[in-house]
Amino acid sequence: MKVEVRQGTVEETAADALVVNLFQGVEKPGGATGAVDGALGGLISRLAADGEIKGKDGEVTLIHTEGRLNVPRVLVAGLGKKEEFDWQKAAAAAAAAARKARGLGARKLATVIHGAGTGGLSPDRAAQAVVEGTILGLYEFRKFKTESDEDERPGIDELLLVEQDPAKLGAARDGAARGGLLGEVINETRDLVNSPGSEVTPTSLAECARDLALSNGLEVEILGPAELEKMGAGAILAVAKGSVQPPRLISLRYQAAGAPENLTLALVGKGITFDAGGISIKPASKMHEMKMDMAGAAAVLGAMKVVAALKPAVNVIGIVAATENLPSGTAVKPGDIAKTMSGLTVEILNTDAEGRLILADAVTYARKLGATHIVDLATLTGAVLVALGSLASGLVSNDEGLTDLVKKASELSGERVWPFPTYPEYKEDLKGEFADLKNVGGNGAGTIMGGLFIGRFAEGLPWVHLDIAGTAWNDKSGKVLGKGATGVGVRMMTELAFLMAARSAS
Ligand code: BES
Ligand code: MN
Ligand code: ZN
Repeated sequence: MKVEVRQGTVEETAADALVVNLFQGVEKPGGATGAVDGALGGLISRLAADGEIKGKDGEVTLIHTEGRLNVPRVLVAGLGKKEEFDWQKAAAAAAAAARKARGLGARKLATVIHGAGTGGLSPDRAAQAVVEGTILGLYEFRKFKTESDEDERPGIDELLLVEQDPAKLGAARDGAARGGLLGEVINETRDLVNSPGSEVTPTSLAECARDLALSNGLEVEILGPAELEKMGAGAILAVAKGSVQPPRLISLRYQAAGAPENLTLALVGKGITFDAGGISIKPASKMHEMKMDMAGAAAVLGAMKVVAALKPAVNVIGIVAATENLPSGTAVKPGDIAKTMSGLTVEILNTDAEGRLILADAVTYARKLGATHIVDLATLTGAVLVALGSLASGLVSNDEGLTDLVKKASELSGERVWPFPTYPEYKEDLKGEFADLKNVGGNGAGTIMGGLFIGRFAEGLPWVHLDIAGTAWNDKSGKVLGKGATGVGVRMMTELAFLMAARSAS
């Protein structure tokens, strides 16, 4: 989709549809909506006075202009209550309006920048929200659909943001560019996660990482079974044993000009391209959803792409451990003991607790590559869905400073996190009977146990674990995102990189 920010008035704007907005309870709109209202002889005010337009969140009202404007139709998007307004409401309004416009057959969509006027958002934040909301809201995973959906074809290919105030133009353009980048990258991330396990294998994920690195100026290294054997990555190899697909350990490096040398952020992603559970096999009912068990890996790749484009002044490494987890005659068995890259041995009591195994080696590898701070993203436990549903990612950490930064990044990105306690008694439950560790505890607290297992391999480096099993996938459509993959983590990790750069500069 082509995106442009243009200086001008709504009256002179030409497009297939024009989006304006209204806060809840406002009957006499001002600004651009007021101008459109004037051109339409007060129609919007009358509809608002009649209660037909309420300005509620998610509401989109279609008005035919009958030649009174340069657009055949106007969409009035509700922004909800003014006191509750924020950039996420702006993004949601843009998403709802864009979907409606597409349903009406619009190709070229013009819009005001929701929130940049009386909404009180800065023009860059508002423009980013509008562009990002539009791109994310229009996303569909149609790669495997052969029958076209008549209502929704051919789709919007041009988005025009109209801003009257020349003083806001520069900032609006910056925001729009950022929103365009993030929207596109998050949608690519969603594509990867929505794609079936037959398409996204450890090998294809590695190829995807290689392409991404080469076209974005990142260093890339891809290790296969022979190298993993040499490095003693016994945990990744154990999980991979049941599959004919060879595992991959992928690393991408972003080196920032002028970045502090004593600071390297590692983003580590769980890349199980399909999780059947292994010999501890999962029940059939929802097993197909386990194609999404590489959402952490996809988020890391997406974040690396955004970081490469936006260039924060901090070095960032992206690491992805990728393998399938399948049962077979060669699969790892409950009771087997794996020797991890760190040297620690693990008794594998449940082969379905595979994420923490591959991340153990990936985190050790992050240390070897010189990481000073580690954040891992993983669809690690069903238990996090019990605790938090799909509203927040579970956070487990060994470091308050890094936790605070991640919380800040979470607030800036709108991707929620919620910290779990890490009492020392929990760690007792990870001690193995026949090896140093065991991969499952026996006393509940599934999300904490999974996190703390991984944390054991950070060995004192500041580390944060984000369990995204609930947030990476939508069972039902939200205000911006539809069903399926959400691309969670891309935005938050980008914000984190900038926060680390800012903190080290101060
Ligand atoms: N990939 C799953 C976790 C998961 C569950 C992700 C639901 C997304 C939605 C993970 O590998 C797993 O199987 N975890 C087990 C751990 C248990 C065996 C300790 C679980 O949560 O049941
Ligand atoms: Mn599993
Ligand atoms: Zn898994």
